[in-house]
Amino acid sequence: PSGVTRDGAGVLTVGGLGVQDIQAEHGTPAYVLDEDDLRARARAFKAAFAGHDVYYAGKAFLCRAVVRAIAEEGLFLDVCTGGELATALAAGMPPQRIGFHGNNKSVSELERALDAGVGRIIVDSFDEIDRLTALAQDRNIRQPVLVRVTVGVEAHTHEFIATAHEDQKFGFSVGGGAAFKAVAKILDDDVLDLRGLHSHIGSQIFDASGFEVAARRVLALQAQVRDARGVELPEIDLGGGFGIAYTTQDDPAAPADLAERMIKIVDDECAALGLATPKLSVEPGRAIVGPAMFTLYEVGTVKDVDGLRTYVSVDGGMSDNIRTALYGASYSATIAGRASTADPILARVVGKHCESGDIVVKDEFLPADVQPGDLLAVPGTGAYCRSMASNYNHVPRPPVVAVRGGTARVIVRRETEEDLLALDVG
Ligand code: LLP
Repeated sequence: PSGVTRDGAGVLTVGGLGVQDIQAEHGTPAYVLDEDDLRARARAFKAAFAGHDVYYAGKAFLCRAVVRAIAEEGLFLDVCTGGELATALAAGMPPQRIGFHGNNKSVSELERALDAGVGRIIVDSFDEIDRLTALAQDRNIRQPVLVRVTVGVEAHTHEFIATAHEDQKFGFSVGGGAAFKAVAKILDDDVLDLRGLHSHIGSQIFDASGFEVAARRVLALQAQVRDARGVELPEIDLGGGFGIAYTTQDDPAAPADLAERMIKIVDDECAALGLATPKLSVEPGRAIVGPAMFTLYEVGTVKDVDGLRTYVSVDGGMSDNIRTALYGASYSATIAGRASTADPILARVVGKHCESGDIVVKDEFLPADVQPGDLLAVPGTGAYCRSMASNYNHVPRPPVVAVRGGTARVIVRRETEEDLLALDVG
């Protein structure tokens, strides 16, 4: 994050605060959020998509303080469960700025969303259309909805694959005709307020080509709806997935460049199809919160294994960052509490869990004098780390400490063993 740097003694600082002070006050492991950086990223997205709407995808990381920051920076919020919705509402996010996703929202989740007055619900199945239509009818509400469509584009980093059909659980297939049928059903029932189509093609995407193919396919359906039904849908959502750099090898396009290309393709395609340009929205999660956080660990043991590699064990692991074990994700690590001029050695940063796959950083060169008591920082852990954290091995989940304007405060407290025991009955 932009507010993270080293002081004269080589100590990592965030917003001017040294990591040793953060450790002294809050302990380790801890997620450290550079809130100024988070807000700057939110603002950058808002500026890049000026005139359109940016929904922060709460699944990347959500708590009340972050909802408030996102709301203050003028963003909207994408939630995908009742729990995320409850957090958004508890933090005071205006309901009309919330979009509700999910392929299997329960009746009670849908009721809560309708009763709260969320701005839009992204419908994902014929069952859900029936359910939501009945619930909206009961309440005499004209709920705005988007139809989630799958366009046969799967994007990941630099590659994307475009096919005619989609074989996955989300949305309605454009190629297979289900998407048109879903649109027709909503128009025929005439209870829900159909605002537009939604497409999300993947995550950790580095260039715009996948978004461009998706936009073309969504807009082609939009034109088909106009031709068949005489209805021009006023909105289009192209989802999230903007990639970030986890290591120095990663080279994602800047959000502003992706925004420019996405806005242009929508404009050009609409001009070609004779459609009025719809309002565009996007749903970045990772790109807003990912780079704004790092995890601070303390090294507990250092073990050389047969001269092959040095295993550096930290006081957390796969319970606070499952991404390495689950996706083979790459991270980096750095000694945070001091400078070192020792030669680099090939190290593997591992956690404290009873499982050999408990790896935080698979390969990293650390100074040969790395030792117990050292602080280790792993950057880029803002997205899908705390939000996917577990209590495996009954390890309490770490706190989130936010630094803003040079002041640190806890925004999610550390879990305790009492918290864990509190769920046991009998
Ligand atoms: N919108 C929708 C409909 C989504 O399904 C997602 C992510 C997003 C937006 C936000 O995507 P982002 O901008 O954060 O890439 N746990 C995985 C990522 C799962 C993403 C699921 N959907 C990981 O740790 O990489």
